[in-house]
Amino acid sequence: MSLFDNIQETAAFIKERINHTPQIGIVLGSGLGGLIDEVETETEIMYKDIPHFPVSTVKGHAGKLIFGTMHGKPVVMMAGRFHYYEGYTMQEVTFPIRVMKALGVETLVVSNAAGCMNVSFKVGDIMLIHDHINLFPEHPLRGPNDERLGVRFPDMSEPYDPQLIALAGEVAKEQGLELRKGVYVGFQGPTFETRAEYNMLHVIGADAVGMSTVPEIIVARHGGMKVFAASVITDMGIREDLNTISHEEVLAAANAAAPKLAALVAGMVGRM
Ligand code: HPA
Repeated sequence: MSLFDNIQETAAFIKERINHTPQIGIVLGSGLGGLIDEVETETEIMYKDIPHFPVSTVKGHAGKLIFGTMHGKPVVMMAGRFHYYEGYTMQEVTFPIRVMKALGVETLVVSNAAGCMNVSFKVGDIMLIHDHINLFPEHPLRGPNDERLGVRFPDMSEPYDPQLIALAGEVAKEQGLELRKGVYVGFQGPTFETRAEYNMLHVIGADAVGMSTVPEIIVARHGGMKVFAASVITDMGIREDLNTISHEEVLAAANAAAPKLAALVAGMVGRM
């Protein structure tokens, strides 16, 4: 079976179990599960029960699709995403995004935790991603292109929807939330970066680095979805002191800042 057939089969399986066509898809990044409290849940489907879906391996990731409404809008949320560093292929990492598109999702919202190379930002800041640099060693669109999924050579001049960025600015202003804007670079991990690597990422023009998001955005754009993405800054990669970085530190910072991002996205969803 082709990728296209698998997507159709998975979407058909899901459509039998949901009442509304989701308009907005939301990928919950690590430590950002707070958005779950903002949704009126109608149906939950465990990844392990969904045909062709990869299965989550990371401890603490629930591994399910949540369907419901948020501020009146039909949404689907991915609780638990698939990271390249876990060993999945790029097609597996991005398969749920393809399925969202096949279900009817028009807008994709993605969040993540990220290390920071911009010294004017600080831990706990919310950074809207207005552009990215793809440094993953494998590309999700590599291989024969299925025109039913998108064009061979997608334009990437403006992957992040300017109207959604503007909307985020309006909502943040109302909420008294200070936002940063920056360039996210996708690096495969699972090691955090060396000091020399953080320096390099700074030099090439990135503000924040993380191990996710870029493949999902590429596939969403390939499929013609509108995209909005934001990072929670969890650690300063570039700093003078002895900068060790731990997963615990990243999770703690992500959890502390999560309510801000959840409130921002919830505020935006009602107006999308
Ligand atoms: N590097 C890469 N990924 C990350 C980081 C980081 O410093 N912080 C959170 N995710």
